[in-house]
Amino acid sequence: MKNSYSNIFSFNKKILKKSIKNLNNGNIVGLPTETVYGLGGNAYSKKSILKIYKLKRRPKSNPLIVHYLNLKDASKDIVLNEKFKKLYKQFCPGPITFILKKKYGSKINPQASAKLKTVAIRFPNHRVVRSILKGINFPLAMPSANKSTNVSPVSAEDVFDEFKKKIQVIIDGGKCKVGIESTVIDLTNEPRILRPGIIDKNSIEKILKKKFKKNIINRKIISPGMMRKHYSPGIPVFINQKKHDGKSAFIYLGNKNMNKKKFFSLSKNLDLNEAASNLYKLFRKIKKQGYKKIQIGKIPNFGSGIAINDRIQRASKS
Ligand code: TXA
Ligand code: MG
Repeated sequence: MKNSYSNIFSFNKKILKKSIKNLNNGNIVGLPTETVYGLGGNAYSKKSILKIYKLKRRPKSNPLIVHYLNLKDASKDIVLNEKFKKLYKQFCPGPITFILKKKYGSKINPQASAKLKTVAIRFPNHRVVRSILKGINFPLAMPSANKSTNVSPVSAEDVFDEFKKKIQVIIDGGKCKVGIESTVIDLTNEPRILRPGIIDKNSIEKILKKKFKKNIINRKIISPGMMRKHYSPGIPVFINQKKHDGKSAFIYLGNKNMNKKKFFSLSKNLDLNEAASNLYKLFRKIKKQGYKKIQIGKIPNFGSGIAINDRIQRASKS
């Protein structure tokens, strides 16, 4: 399919080959995953890692997620543990990222994990990125394909909006199904969720047969993605709103205001997964339509609602 963007390509054998060539040469490629689009580069290459940080204008203290095809590949770089194996079996490939100890002798470039002794790893579930992982002999360091502090992209056009022609190849893999970033869980000590996602704490506890501590116990930044100014749509956001001010875009759950202008439903039938998948798409749409402010109604705080509340709280603080 042709489109008006010279660096957005539909997925086929030719573009698969071209992307692999680019990655082998240390270049960065815009790729779809089931969560959000990412900026992929060779996790073993210093040159590639530095390019990613520069493109994103990301602080060097904020480590990247390293993406693998399967457990066998990941076991070259990380120390496996029992909890991880259980969760892997249940949820992978899928929208969950594990913080684990880096293996001695691992080839992951130290800057990819911000020189920490731990590394974040993920097994994405999208045919484009899986085909690419099959064709290369290194894992992909891949942060979300947005400039630092912006919201993550959920379509190839969103990636273009962020980086224009600064990357040569963006593969169009359609709109991301999940639509928000993966759950990040630290498994280096007692399990702890550093970033909530659609795989929620309850379903993880069920697999581990153990309740674990609250997400974040203090204000200290444990996962740098926990920085307060993050996920900003570029206009002020106000949460837990009861009344429309008449001017702002109003985001809500349900079907009550469907025909009213300025009202945007995250999910007509109150489905929190659907709501999560529509959040960033709506943020970008509303901004493009020229609104100066976003109001958001109350979102229930369970299941994927926890992840939505996490993102909109951060958006409201920026
Ligand atoms: O869904 C996703 O996870 C997407 C797609 C592209 O895979 N990627 C993504 O990457 O969201 P990024 O870089 O935007 O977010 C990675 C998060 C950050 O909050 C980072 O601080 C945290 O993971 N992280 C990475 N390595 C870490 C480590 N060793 N310890 C603690 N947190 C880490
Ligand atoms: Mg990000």
